[in-house]
Amino acid sequence: MKERRYITLDPMDLTQRERHGYLLSAVAPRPIAFASTIDKEGRVNLSPFSFFNVFSSNPPIMIFSPARKGTDNTTKDTHHNVLDVPEVVINIVNYPIVEQMSLSSTAYAKGVNEFIKSGLTEIPSDLVAPPRVAESPVAFECKVDDVIALGDQGGAGNLVICRVVKMHIDTSVLDDDKQIDTEKMDLVARMGGMWYTKASGNALFQIPKPLRDKGIGVDALPEHARNSKILTGNDLGRLGNISALPDDNAIRKAKEKLANESNADKALVHLQVHTLLDDGKTDEALTLLFAYSD
Ligand SMILES: Cc1cc2nc3c(=O)[nH]c(=O)nc-3n(C[C@H](O)[C@H](O)[C@H](O)COP(=O)(O)O)c2cc1C
Repeated sequence: MKERRYITLDPMDLTQRERHGYLLSAVAPRPIAFASTIDKEGRVNLSPFSFFNVFSSNPPIMIFSPARKGTDNTTKDTHHNVLDVPEVVINIVNYPIVEQMSLSSTAYAKGVNEFIKSGLTEIPSDLVAPPRVAESPVAFECKVDDVIALGDQGGAGNLVICRVVKMHIDTSVLDDDKQIDTEKMDLVARMGGMWYTKASGNALFQIPKPLRDKGIGVDALPEHARNSKILTGNDLGRLGNISALPDDNAIRKAKEKLANESNADKALVHLQVHTLLDDGKTDEALTLLFAYSD
């Protein structure tokens, strides 16, 4: 591993602005809950929250957090609404609605309907009172099980624990097996400052799940591989994820091939392994590593 230098901070020594900046730039990208709620008078509110995720699938639980404002310690309309009427629709934000979502985060006066301000379309929900966003690819109707205050100072979050009671999925984001197609979702996420990211195109990649078969582990790789200046951490991770060591026969054949390559030194072999991994030929890459010895 290359030598690293750090700044090391006690979060409580920082100003609220600094703390907020470091936390949100590091814990990113964050998905965005576009939350529709209503107040006691039935007036609709729509606001985005990136302190958000799904935490359980059985029961289906999502949590988002309307925080106390860092500047003046005021609380948000969404927070008041879920305390008064414990229901919310969590609408998912994708690229086609990202600008309208951002517009809706403006601090409009209580009672102003951000659906109207942002030009988005309300559809009545089936089981909860707040409407959902027609333009969202997926919307979750939720009952609010609990609201947990994390503090009383500016910047303190309020966990809104939501139980999903109905899901609406636009058929245009489904594949032939009625599963959500990640590429069709065109999701966006919030980073630090004004940064967002798109979860589409070149940003998407797949890693085969290591859950079923146990990987041999990086510690099972030959020492020359573990200390390689060419193989990256991702290369080692991919190799360590293979479930079985190469068999003796395959290693013998690879050794014979190496013996015929007069210039097969360590660097060249590691480069070949790196290229094989890039081409998805993980087993071949592992065999070549075991065939080489310093
Ligand atoms: C993408 C995005 C994510 C946001 N995430 C949060 C968040 O997680 N918590 C929060 O308190 N405010 C967050 N905000 C700011 C709120 O959306 C903003 O304060 C909004 O005006 C609150 O509206 P309300 O008072 O109508 O509830 C976010 C804003 C944007 C644009």
